[in-house]
Amino acid sequence: MPQDFLTLLLKAEGPDGLTRAEVEDNIITFIGAGHETTARALGWTLYCLAEAPWEREKVEREIDAVLARELDPTKWLDAMPFTRAAFEEGLRLYPPAPSINREPIEPETWNGLYIPRRAAVLVMPWVVHRHRKLWDRPDAFMPERFHPANREKIDRFQYLPFGAGPRVCIGTSFAMQEAIIALAIMLSRFRFDTTAETKPWPVQKLTTQPQGGLPMQVTRRL
Ligand code: HEM
Repeated sequence: MPQDFLTLLLKAEGPDGLTRAEVEDNIITFIGAGHETTARALGWTLYCLAEAPWEREKVEREIDAVLARELDPTKWLDAMPFTRAAFEEGLRLYPPAPSINREPIEPETWNGLYIPRRAAVLVMPWVVHRHRKLWDRPDAFMPERFHPANREKIDRFQYLPFGAGPRVCIGTSFAMQEAIIALAIMLSRFRFDTTAETKPWPVQKLTTQPQGGLPMQVTRRL
């Protein structure tokens, strides 16, 4: 019997476990929360790398070296700090969840601010991630911010692509793994370049999407 996520979820169904409707809800939530977010993040990262070929070169070199010696994709995340940093910087500039929304069920006072019941409370990773008081050159794509030596200078609440607190993204580790594997496979085989038509305008339609699409020129590297 395979030990994949769907099998485990189906096994959790039963009189003392989940109902069929709960199993179905969980499947839909995981597809909804886990598919488009990672896909958008990958698209934006390819765009950022195409606009910064000197960074793309570092990533390509790292991927080529790791793939030549390590065939197990589950080891790639730890073995590719430059690729990981590029993806994390892509998530900073284009967080797939640009806002995190809450609605208090009771009135709250927070830091002297009265928040009525049912007020719309928005935490905006998009704004926090580009805040001039928090980041040096906030609009620039600078993956070195996420290199191991610099990573710890970033405050936990300054970088929120996966949220924080009790509802933090349950798929964070999975998303990082799948994103690095996808980038490694794509960038080892192809080079993605922007063209005169690549003028993506970020819009929030649940996730951060490139209005007008993200046309790129794709050439074979292998
Ligand atoms: C780059 C990819 C991803 C990003 C940027 C992302 C972002 C987020 C954020 C910001 C939240 C918190 C929402 C809130 O506090 O209201 C969240 C929650 C969640 N994410 Fe992700 N996510 C990603 C990938 C995934 C994947 C791959 C899965 C599943 C395999 C997943 C499943 C979930 C679920 C189930 C929740 C709700 C958790 C809860 O409420 O307890 N996400 N995600």
